[in-house]
Amino acid sequence: VSCEEKMPPEVVINNDRFTQRPHDHYHRGDMKKTPTGIAPVITVDRKSARPLYRQVYEGYREAIVERRLRAGQRLPSTRSLAAELQVSRLPILSAFDQLLTEGYIEGRVGSGTFVASTLPNELPAPRPAIRQGRRNFSKPVKLPPEPAPRPRGWGAFRVSEPAVEHFPFQVWSSLVARTSRNLTKALMLYGDPMGHRAFREVLAGYLGTARALRCDADQITVVSGSQQALELSARVLLERGDQVWLEDPGYSGAREAFTLADARLVPIPVDDEGLDVAAGIARCPRPRAVYVTPSHQYPLGVTMSASRRLKLLDWAQESGAWIIEDDYDSEYRYGTQPVPALQGLDRDTRVIYIGTFSKVLFPALRLGYLVMPRDLVAHFARVRDAADICPPTLYQAVLTDFIAAGHFARHLRRMRAVYHERRDALVGALATEIPSLRVIGDPAGMHLAAVNDKLRDGKIAERAAAEGLWTMPLSECYLGEVTRRGFVLGYGGVKSDDLVTAVRRLRGLIKA
Ligand SMILES: Cc1ncc(COP(=O)(O)O)c(C=O)c1O
Repeated sequence: VSCEEKMPPEVVINNDRFTQRPHDHYHRGDMKKTPTGIAPVITVDRKSARPLYRQVYEGYREAIVERRLRAGQRLPSTRSLAAELQVSRLPILSAFDQLLTEGYIEGRVGSGTFVASTLPNELPAPRPAIRQGRRNFSKPVKLPPEPAPRPRGWGAFRVSEPAVEHFPFQVWSSLVARTSRNLTKALMLYGDPMGHRAFREVLAGYLGTARALRCDADQITVVSGSQQALELSARVLLERGDQVWLEDPGYSGAREAFTLADARLVPIPVDDEGLDVAAGIARCPRPRAVYVTPSHQYPLGVTMSASRRLKLLDWAQESGAWIIEDDYDSEYRYGTQPVPALQGLDRDTRVIYIGTFSKVLFPALRLGYLVMPRDLVAHFARVRDAADICPPTLYQAVLTDFIAAGHFARHLRRMRAVYHERRDALVGALATEIPSLRVIGDPAGMHLAAVNDKLRDGKIAERAAAEGLWTMPLSECYLGEVTRRGFVLGYGGVKSDDLVTAVRRLRGLIKA
């Protein structure tokens, strides 16, 4: 029985409504340029007594009422929908016509058919479940509570905000376009869970030259930012309950990753030479791993001294601990050469090295890398494969060309000058406006610490947040005893003049 025969006589297909719109895609066929939407799941039963047009109409109406199709969302073309449901276009046309009449959908001249934009997108609160089975989920998540309220959005003095306005959009977009046009099979199908080979080769070259690492491409896995590298490291290296030394004050991202892995966190103090290795040994002599930011300690900005580096490596060799080196922003160093990574000094291959493009390009790119000792490669590869395989190959390929063609080096050079100027503006403004704050950790990166142990930094940060100013209180960066107070101030994403204004606002808040 053809669907046409099943159509009730009262349904009139008002062809005019569609033919009058010159580009209407669902009447005039799929014009090449007219995009088509994603079809919701509806069932069509050809054996049912209910006419096909009715089934399609009801299926779509229900999808719209349940907000599986959202206001303004594009509908599939009638031709593609007919093909998908394996019916002729006629019942689809009449179903859509009915939905149009009732105001569920609307046509837009030249661009297609959409769910009516006037429909509310929010579902009413669900009715309480009458009977609910047990709702079990994974082991309790023991993440620390959310920090004090922070302002929405970006700006002074948000940490981790690069100057994205200086990003080389032109070059990047042409590389994205070129790579997308020339997608090879290797770029489109499942690849190596360790990452795109060409990217890892380029990374190995860059890391050897710029960061004095000793590694080749086989030891690198591509990750979606340092955060994933920390999570993977915890999965591969730790057992539940293992002790991990963390710098104190330290990076909340590391704290969270190791907390999720059920590690026991051991805060180890940081002094002017970096992580206090002797204090660590006294407090916890046999941890499974140590997390460090030796090039630019987060948040205090100290560079780990040579003697501490050697002491840490010697002790790790003796004790069998892994060292997780987070080298998140050391490409930016002002006045002196970048400090070589700890990994390059490591003779006993105890260091797992982590780097990211979040600061040097932009954080939403979610690309980073983890460099591992050779004997860990198989373990990481296995876990990678079972987790998320690897980040999108397209962007790995784009970044390969971006680095290989010299755009990355050029961008770094330009950005170093931009951040240098912003750093100077912030340091200058702090010295003039709030001399009671002592600046530390400013020779590198995109943030510094402004210390004054008498400040109630948490309270001030809360008040600043209410006024839209980001000020990360130093006291919040501690896991153990708070020994320093003040603020971690990011300057990467803020123009020099705005930094000066923001410092004046901070002065007012501190005074108040
Ligand atoms: C110490 C530290 N590590 C790593 C990162 C970057 O994290 P991701 O690469 O996950 O964006 C940041 C960003 O603020 C950081 O402060």
